[in-house]
Amino acid sequence: MTLDTTHDNRRRTHFSGHDALWLFGYGSLIWKADFPYRERRPAHIHGWVRRFWQGSHDHRGTPEAPGRVATLVRQPGAICHGMAYRIAPEVLAPLDVREKNGYLREIVRLHFDDAENASAEGVVYLAGPDNAAFLGEAPLDAIAAQIAASHGPSGANRDYLLNLAAALNDLGVEDDHVFALANRLDGEAC
Ligand code: SIN
Repeated sequence: MTLDTTHDNRRRTHFSGHDALWLFGYGSLIWKADFPYRERRPAHIHGWVRRFWQGSHDHRGTPEAPGRVATLVRQPGAICHGMAYRIAPEVLAPLDVREKNGYLREIVRLHFDDAENASAEGVVYLAGPDNAAFLGEAPLDAIAAQIAASHGPSGANRDYLLNLAAALNDLGVEDDHVFALANRLDGEAC
């Protein structure tokens, strides 16, 4: 698989022709919503956990020294909290470019946190274990050290992690993986 998923995503036309669709964000899409949206609501999805297992060659690292960013990993019974955005289908095109380093648009059922039993089908950008930038599991200390050392065109990798931890904290979401990594970086001199 190549490192640029833009064209694969353009062929994923599930919501084309719709007036609007829901996008579920669980990483930078929670704290960096620099795209137009009509509405946003805290939401969660079932059966997935957030993990810093995806390499970043284009935003928070380089091809020679990739950073680590969030993806979703299947875990039966788990719940992953994030943010749902109501967007127009044409907003997906620039997001495909932003998420091009291994993420593919997948269809997911998202559940809104602010209304009981309210759910909708939506799109999530998911970087699976077979994508070329996938780094996979590593000890938390090793992941934290890689994040602490990495920089890319979008800035320091540590800022991605600490911004995500702060956004989850604001949402009242507990995420042991993210908070354990953030604590390791907080303790370091930068
Ligand atoms: C997401 O935030 O939903 C996808 C991964 C990222 O852009 O950090």
